[in-house]
Amino acid sequence: MGLLDLAEKIKKHPENYRESCKFKTLGMLFAKTSTRTRVSFEVGMYQMGGHAIYLDWEKTNFTLAKFEDEVAVLARYCDILMARVFEHDSIIRMARASSVPIINGLSNDHHPIQSLADLLTIREKFGSLEGITVAYVGDGNNVCHSLIWACSHAGVKCRISTPRDYNVHVPLPKNSFTWYETPEEAVKGVDIIYTDTWVSIGQEAETKARQQVFRPFQVNANLIAQASSRAIFMHCLPAHRGLEVSDEVFDGPQSVVFDQAENRLHTEKALILKLLGIEAW
Ligand code: CP
Ligand code: NVA
Repeated sequence: MGLLDLAEKIKKHPENYRESCKFKTLGMLFAKTSTRTRVSFEVGMYQMGGHAIYLDWEKTNFTLAKFEDEVAVLARYCDILMARVFEHDSIIRMARASSVPIINGLSNDHHPIQSLADLLTIREKFGSLEGITVAYVGDGNNVCHSLIWACSHAGVKCRISTPRDYNVHVPLPKNSFTWYETPEEAVKGVDIIYTDTWVSIGQEAETKARQQVFRPFQVNANLIAQASSRAIFMHCLPAHRGLEVSDEVFDGPQSVVFDQAENRLHTEKALILKLLGIEAW
């Protein structure tokens, strides 16, 4: 909640934080592609008077040396590091090898910085997180796992509907969500319908099979009509229009996807300031 409060303050008055990260450098290591994560972190550091360095895993010597050695070196240059990796264990190993804070910029299992922006968006749209129910429809993936974690910390009720073989697959807090066989059951009366791609980065070879299995899980006008009349539509983006979400819903009045994407910037700034000890926890 402290992070969300700070993010809200930064969003309202970014000018108050123009010098907060003066002479600070964020190192950003990417083993996967990105639009939002890369740009929001880089812009965020710039707007706070700091600097960010983009490191493409393939074009660094991470491919040549022991992973922990390269991380230890980055930590000697940078004040804080962010990484987008395949195996979640790489984030854990980084945290062990680094003398500076590590931010998970997405792993196969988790996407926590996305969930921070999601919570801020939900709080803005409904004025509070109390009494809110979200239904996540689609693949039980990294975004879904982190959404469940975040909602369980924030007291937001979480329902999910995934195909049986594509359910969540990491340890999650006890009783933190309810699984439904069909999207229609899951979204009944909810305040938020959330979805993500059916094919995450690294799963491209499974595209055809996944598109077939997930077809009944598309978020379209029929599905959204079964949610609460005040319901909003959320998506972490990038979206695959016509697959996990119809154009009609994506472009419709209930969609908050661009506010949600913008909130990545404000919440990441708050996270950086807290991790660097510039703002108190
Ligand atoms: N939502 C998200 O993390 O987007 P990118 O993959 O473009 O960074
Ligand atoms: N589940 C997606 C999220 C992208 C932001 C992936 O891992 O590719």
